[in-house]
Amino acid sequence: MIVLAVETSCDETSVSVTQNGETILSNIVLSQIDIHQAFGGVVPEIASREHVKGITIVFKEALESAGIKAEDVDLVAVTQGPGLIGSLLIGINAAKAFAFAHQKPLVGVHHIAGHIYANRLVGPMQFPLVCLVVSGGHTELILMRGHYQFEKLGETQDDAVGEAYDKVARVLGLGYPGGPEIDALAATASPDIPMPVSMMDGYDFSYSGLKSHVINLLNQKRMKGEAIDVARLSASFQHAAIEQLIIKSRAAVDAYGAKMFMVAGGVAANKHLRQRVERTFTDVALRIPPFAYCTDNAAMIGIAAHYQVQAGHSTESYALKGHSRLKLTP
Ligand code: KG4
Ligand code: ZN
Repeated sequence: MIVLAVETSCDETSVSVTQNGETILSNIVLSQIDIHQAFGGVVPEIASREHVKGITIVFKEALESAGIKAEDVDLVAVTQGPGLIGSLLIGINAAKAFAFAHQKPLVGVHHIAGHIYANRLVGPMQFPLVCLVVSGGHTELILMRGHYQFEKLGETQDDAVGEAYDKVARVLGLGYPGGPEIDALAATASPDIPMPVSMMDGYDFSYSGLKSHVINLLNQKRMKGEAIDVARLSASFQHAAIEQLIIKSRAAVDAYGAKMFMVAGGVAANKHLRQRVERTFTDVALRIPPFAYCTDNAAMIGIAAHYQVQAGHSTESYALKGHSRLKLTP
């Protein structure tokens, strides 16, 4: 089955062609990061306009570089939500137009299901598995007992971990997105400034306390006129942020007898997290997507769509609507 997939939920315009839920024939990603950097974050109105400008060319490139014609496509998939509604609608309308013009079935895919299925690019999944989803908008632990069966074990009660990275980076005077900047700087210093590791009940997370702690620390230093060691602060913040993820993930894997542990979402690109995960989960199978497939891309949506249809969860319809707060689990 050849799937043409579209992802425009935030600030990446992406179209891909994937085959049989495991092979990428093309995956074109047009990033708007350069444009939003000047504003220190994604500006929704600008994101929508950039998607409009880019979508047609990205569509064309995805088909050309896959070496296929529109007729060869078996299924069209598009991110339905969650995300910025204006951005989602550009991708949805482009996918609808293509599907309708070529009389192909169309399905809507949950953005987080896409991030989770980016792991299928590494190899088959083993159930039951626990997946840690860490992105700019999500921090959650998902249990899967089979393909496309998602059970939420816990989630952040305030900020997402990626959001905390971005906000801390901003107060430290680093660029947007903050995750990669903190990641790189943290590798050059030791994490020896004490930071709070929040511990919520069960499998829930919290990042607002850690974020406020860094902001307060910085304000105190600035008021006293003390020098600020940005690298040391980055390393210490990162250490506390990742420890919380590791402790909760380990507990979930043990409690549910998971055979596999997976990491998904933009923060899965973090080098310190990857290292800690590799050291902690030596007794179960492990999946972390390749760097290029951690952040938003259409290939992950195409792979997810394949399993969504196979599992009989297809919501095939040309009347598909975007949902900025679409839920993964009931
Ligand atoms: O999944 P994603 O591309 O978009 C969302 O769905 O949110 O994730 C983007 C988030 C941003 O908060 C970014 O700072 C973070 O992922 N991120 C990282 C790294 N690379 C991206 N965070 C920590 N370390 C990284 N290397
Ligand atoms: Zn994402």
